[in-house]
Amino acid sequence: MYRTKTCGELRLSNVSEEVTLAGWVQRVRKMGGMTFIDLRDRYGITQLVTDEATSAQLNGLVEKLGREFVIQATGIVMERQSKNPKIETGDIEIKLTDMKVLNPSVTPPFTIEDESDGGEELRAKFRYLDLRRNPLKRALYLRHKMAHEVRNYLDSQNFIEIETPYLIKSTPEGARDFVVPSRMNPGEFYALPQSPQQQKQLLMVAGYDRYFQIVRCFRDEDLRADRQPEFTQIDCEMSFVERDDVLNTFEGMIKSLFKNILGIEINYDFPRMPYSQAMSMYGSDKPDIRFGMTLHDITDIAKGHNFSVFDSAEYVGSIVVKGASDYTRKQLDELTEWVKRPQIGAKGLVYVKCASDGSFKSSIDKFFTADDLRKVAQASEAEASDLILILSGPKTKMQTALGSLRIEMGNRLGLRDPKVFAPLWVVDFPLLEWDDETQRFYAMHHPFTSPKPEHLEYFYSNKKEDLAMVCANAYDFVLNGTEVGGGSIRIHDSKIQERMFEVLGFSKEDADYRFGFLINAFKYGAPPHGGIAFGFDRFCALFGGQETIRDYIAFPKNNQGRDVMLDAPSRIDHSQMEELFLESTYNENKVN
Ligand code: AMO
Repeated sequence: MYRTKTCGELRLSNVSEEVTLAGWVQRVRKMGGMTFIDLRDRYGITQLVTDEATSAQLNGLVEKLGREFVIQATGIVMERQSKNPKIETGDIEIKLTDMKVLNPSVTPPFTIEDESDGGEELRAKFRYLDLRRNPLKRALYLRHKMAHEVRNYLDSQNFIEIETPYLIKSTPEGARDFVVPSRMNPGEFYALPQSPQQQKQLLMVAGYDRYFQIVRCFRDEDLRADRQPEFTQIDCEMSFVERDDVLNTFEGMIKSLFKNILGIEINYDFPRMPYSQAMSMYGSDKPDIRFGMTLHDITDIAKGHNFSVFDSAEYVGSIVVKGASDYTRKQLDELTEWVKRPQIGAKGLVYVKCASDGSFKSSIDKFFTADDLRKVAQASEAEASDLILILSGPKTKMQTALGSLRIEMGNRLGLRDPKVFAPLWVVDFPLLEWDDETQRFYAMHHPFTSPKPEHLEYFYSNKKEDLAMVCANAYDFVLNGTEVGGGSIRIHDSKIQERMFEVLGFSKEDADYRFGFLINAFKYGAPPHGGIAFGFDRFCALFGGQETIRDYIAFPKNNQGRDVMLDAPSRIDHSQMEELFLESTYNENKVN
């Protein structure tokens, strides 16, 4: 046996026991005739100690120890003279009687401490060393507990976990596919699933009326803090359900996660907000409702003052920053630059300061009288000492820009405490999105999402304006401004599905080629069904109080989609290319 105890479990009650531990040397310190060794394993850190009474041979071995050596240490548990309340084993230490070096280590490239001195790139390259650090251990443990809880809950609700294949055909989730060439089928490719959407619908046709899977999905898209090219979904589907059955079932799952993982009891129903309200009040389809600062449409009162910027705008909207009327010119200039960045896309920022004495100062004083500004303040629900920020331009673009400004101000003012949670369902998304460039509609969710029954009339209309008004029976789960889950009630009627393909501009041949198997399956008795998928990495990161999901994935990719530890992706041998009937047209000088 390598060890009788772990480095995290010894307490005062173990004093005078002989124990054997095994782990990594975190640190060696000498003080007078004594040497202290911090020994670390997955469970914690235990202090080992030698003194003058320790045999010369053992002291000699200890002399040679370096950071990250793997050792086996035997000794007697003693009460410590000076206790360390910061660690759980801080009341005791082990007086060393025997030690064996199981494996030496070269000096690691960064310190394996909670606050490491290694930069992100270096730690990614040595991910197995980074994973020895406590913050990452805690993150992966949280992930494990959450997966366990999800399985328990869904099992208790009669869901069964069924695996679906990774080598499939293109799935229409809106990103690019990762593709895999087939040696046995020359010139043909599999696509890796962007989600198991069609498979789970086929499982409903097959009669498995409650399915789930904690499953890897692959999407070739631009990466961000909360996006990885391969990520994990809690993917679910149910038959014989309507929207509220799905929402209630998964609200139960989310509540059980909050209760059993974070100890937070949520005993209210999650609010359900229509998409249109989310956009008009928060300028986002994933609003963070932990704080107010909502958008106000002031278009009507902003027009007619000879200020051409407002007069020509489709929309003028405002948000109010409480108690910020003392913002300096410099602060306002900096905010103006912030909203003008291409990601935000505003042309400029108008401000109105509501002074504590009831007077106003604004960047539009030339065009607006004090009385006009009072009306702007009233419509914006601003009070004395507040600062009003105003954007104008195309409606959706400016609502979104104000939404981003709201989040930015929320961050700056500390209104987004990661320990406070505000769950929300966003419902009634538009079914279709018009794209000016390609002059066609795209499915906002995916092409299997059903229109709301009360909008079927518009759905069969050939007018663009009518089609744009159709709402989908779709929903997102939003937590603190992050889209954690999304799903819908599906189309189970092949006529409606055909119409959907038609609206999306797929010819019958196209639709048959891409989704023929699903269209066929639906001819054999498809039950009414619907489902949802949660971004598991995002869920874990939010529960851990972080915005980036990378620490919740053992071996993540960097922002360029590279695994810097494995140095992947990489070129393959010419012979391997030939075997797969592949030729590369890549020319280093031509790219970028
Ligand atoms: P959707 O595309 O909304 O729906 O994805 C579901 C959830 O997956 C998470 N997510 C991601 N997480 C990390 N990295 C990514 N690149 C990434 N992309 C998506 C998000 C998102 O809410 N088949 C449908 C679900 C259904 O209709 O049942 C689907 O995949 O948290």
